[in-house]
Amino acid sequence: MIGPFVALATFVSVVHAQPAVDLLIDHGFPSTGTLNLNTVLAAVTAKKGTFHFGSTYDTFDADQSWFDGIFTTFYRHVVAENGCKWDATEPSQGVSSLTECLGAQSFANQFSNTFRGHNTFWHSQTPSWLPGSFSASQVVGTIIPQHVQAEIQGMGASVTSWDVVNEVVGDGVSAGMTSLQCVQNKGDWPTVTKDGSGVPLVTDLSFIFAAFKTAFQFAGANTRLAVNDYNTGGAEAKTACVINLIKSIQANTTIPFNRLAVGFQSHLSASTGGFDSKSALASTFSTLSALGVSAMITEMDIEVNANATPNLRYQAAIWGDYLDACLYASNCFEFINWDPRDDLSWRGSAAAATLFDTNGNPKPAAYEVAARLQNFANGGAEPCATASGTSVCKITVTGSSTVGSTTTASSTTTSASSPPTGCVSAQFAQCGGVGWTGCALCAAGTTCQVLNPYFSQCLT
Ligand code: XIL
Repeated sequence: MIGPFVALATFVSVVHAQPAVDLLIDHGFPSTGTLNLNTVLAAVTAKKGTFHFGSTYDTFDADQSWFDGIFTTFYRHVVAENGCKWDATEPSQGVSSLTECLGAQSFANQFSNTFRGHNTFWHSQTPSWLPGSFSASQVVGTIIPQHVQAEIQGMGASVTSWDVVNEVVGDGVSAGMTSLQCVQNKGDWPTVTKDGSGVPLVTDLSFIFAAFKTAFQFAGANTRLAVNDYNTGGAEAKTACVINLIKSIQANTTIPFNRLAVGFQSHLSASTGGFDSKSALASTFSTLSALGVSAMITEMDIEVNANATPNLRYQAAIWGDYLDACLYASNCFEFINWDPRDDLSWRGSAAAATLFDTNGNPKPAAYEVAARLQNFANGGAEPCATASGTSVCKITVTGSSTVGSTTTASSTTTSASSPPTGCVSAQFAQCGGVGWTGCALCAAGTTCQVLNPYFSQCLT
């Protein structure tokens, strides 16, 4: 568990004053009512070729009925939060035990969701027989290949992507380091023993190459094989490390670049320095795209610590920026929200780090995520970097319909108390309800339908 907690330490957990932000939900996109992403995710998928938006699930999670509902209507892609890790999948050496991992996959299948694999190699959450006192050649030549083969073969070809190695790059890396130096900087098994002495065990990247060679041999033909890490995404030295590592993996395994991916975990904080800018993400994704490598947001959560409205709006802005960075990149096809609900979050309820509150109700970030998806599906231009605050970014909504809605052009000064004459609300926008003073006219092909006394929506 060392790695994840270092992540929190580096992305400072103290939450500072939140800047005022402009959001799509301020511009006619729904900010209340129930959310159903099925239509919009289908439209996004049609535009991007493929796109997977989801969250974590384990068979032992409580509140199964809430999970059933949310993975039918909002999250449509499943990652086992813990059930596919080494301690769960090979509790005794050489004995593959995929019950929890397969259970999460069956849950995905039951609700027609897709499934991604996390993970085949990690220094953390290892079974009790590891690290043991195995030699470097046993680790690289037998233990890793056997485990990777059993898991990847056992889970079948439909897995969209596998985190083949998780958190192998150090936190103290600096620019110009070789990929070997980046990995040695981690200072964790198997480049050092875990006997407390820090004695080098595996002295090169052979353990990573072995994992990838095996994964490539046994994964489905369309499954992406990822290096997954935290505190990455922008201009950090650690990001350069994961890109260098991907190049080393390609050079040493001959796996085509277009089968490789970099997973950006994105465990963030809503505070200055607690996340990467949209432009920095775009630049990194484009560097990977030039190589033919996919980028993916694999474990997004954002600590805000208090459920005050400005915090939640800031959280929504950061979430929206990361989602946009993925949507508008040509090589980003997966976006995973780590833990589906605040009280289930590994970062603790108080962090309020997810899209749904402890009662299971959507937070502003959930509505904003829905709006970003809808804007993209509508052919709308990419919004400016909302997390940078209103002094830099005021959204103007533009776009033409590809999903049955017409263009809604909203100026940043539009007030809900005086709906503009001749306004038209796009599909899924609010058009009525108690207290609603905004636009009541729906775009062609949609009608204003009452969902509850407080919320009517333009639907087909
Ligand atoms: C976390 C899970 O969310 C927790 O339930 C578990 O106790 C510890 O691991 N990086 C990763 C994930 O790659 O596997 C971690 O998940 C969070 C940090």
